[in-house]
Amino acid sequence: MTIGKRVSQRTRGVKAKTTILYGFLSLAIVLVAILGWIIPAFTQQVVTVSVLMHAPEAAEWKPSVEEFHQTHPNIRIEVIEGPNDADQREDLYTSSFLLGNSPYDLVFMDVTWASKFAAAGWLMDLSDRLSPEQLSAFLEGDVNGGRYQGKLYRIPLRSDAGMLYYRKDLLEQAGYEPPETFAELVEISRSLQQQGLVDWGYLWQGKQYEGLSAMFVEILKGYGGFWVDPQTLEVGLDRPEAIQAVQFLRSTIEKGISPPGTTTYTEEETRLLFQNGKAAFLRNWPYVFSLAAQEGSAIIGKYGIKPMVHAPGRDSGACQGGWGLGIAKTSQHPDEAWKVIEFLTSEEIQRKFILATGKVPSLKSLFNDPTVVAKYPHYPQLLEVIENAALRPPIAQYAQASDILQRYLSAAIANRLSPEKAMKAAADETRRLLNR
Ligand code: GLC
Repeated sequence: MTIGKRVSQRTRGVKAKTTILYGFLSLAIVLVAILGWIIPAFTQQVVTVSVLMHAPEAAEWKPSVEEFHQTHPNIRIEVIEGPNDADQREDLYTSSFLLGNSPYDLVFMDVTWASKFAAAGWLMDLSDRLSPEQLSAFLEGDVNGGRYQGKLYRIPLRSDAGMLYYRKDLLEQAGYEPPETFAELVEISRSLQQQGLVDWGYLWQGKQYEGLSAMFVEILKGYGGFWVDPQTLEVGLDRPEAIQAVQFLRSTIEKGISPPGTTTYTEEETRLLFQNGKAAFLRNWPYVFSLAAQEGSAIIGKYGIKPMVHAPGRDSGACQGGWGLGIAKTSQHPDEAWKVIEFLTSEEIQRKFILATGKVPSLKSLFNDPTVVAKYPHYPQLLEVIENAALRPPIAQYAQASDILQRYLSAAIANRLSPEKAMKAAADETRRLLNR
């Protein structure tokens, strides 16, 4: 073998090694690139934020939750379904916070819960999350329901206000204008019942639960009374106006204007009776308006709404209701929870939710929004009703105060105590609670 041949063989050997080395290097670079791309995709954890609400509400929010998942692939909203009764859901949240290991990141709260939950230290302060301008876009009563000692703990998601539904067709047929006073409501009810046009005159919620307190503040305001003054903590339950309010409610059952079953009714029982054409008047929330217009209802196109009746010379009372979201102090994912709040309370999502469900927005602009008004022509009127709402007292002891009221109201309505005795006892117990 010549020297030249050996040299060229060695050169070929070196070249081959270099090629292999380059091959390995490129493979390594490709692998690193692939892993660099794949690993974060796998390790970027999907964060779950959970919230408790009742099943019908959860079903209504489902499309918005799905839309959130599409636009926020790294956050999942887990909706846990709770009981229908608002008090029972409040108890579930409360016991989970008391046990100290709450599974909830978001707290879906009634307008009356925030001060109690905030006072107990269960909620995050959300005051810096929204500018004053952003906050002023929401209904004032709803925002105030989320404040405690000057800080904000709950962002309004949807509002609510009690109102009077009436059978437009029957009133016209019998030659009546919609009633303004309690006495007119009773008179029209009687007349329509006597003419055999309806079984019942007036439907309202008389079960011992939060809905009873909500309904009662409307009657109380209609008589010019008050429950608890949140500034002075003065209690007005044993005043003549409050006793008159209880007497009125009790008399509707005694006179057969309201069914005997009233003492067991929540919103749904009364809605179904009204929707089946059985009554002239109904006290309820705005959600009834669209449900009573759906197939299967006996009163499609036959009903109207108006502010609640009142005593002569007094004002109407519409109870401020509504639901909002807060963030649990124990949540490990407050920023993700906030993203959910921002998304669900946005104008775009609220518009879709309202158009689909007929519920009430928490953003003022939507009451006069052309698409909303095209579907629900009564929304501008609803805004007026809501802006004059009657509040359940925004005090930290609200849950106990409401329990006391419910107990004694229930006893008076069911004829176990006279209105005077019941309201005196309710007032005394409330005073003891507030002075404690
Ligand atoms: C509605 C109201 C809420 C009220 C409840 C009573 O859900 O929005 O504020 O407490 O009814 O049943």
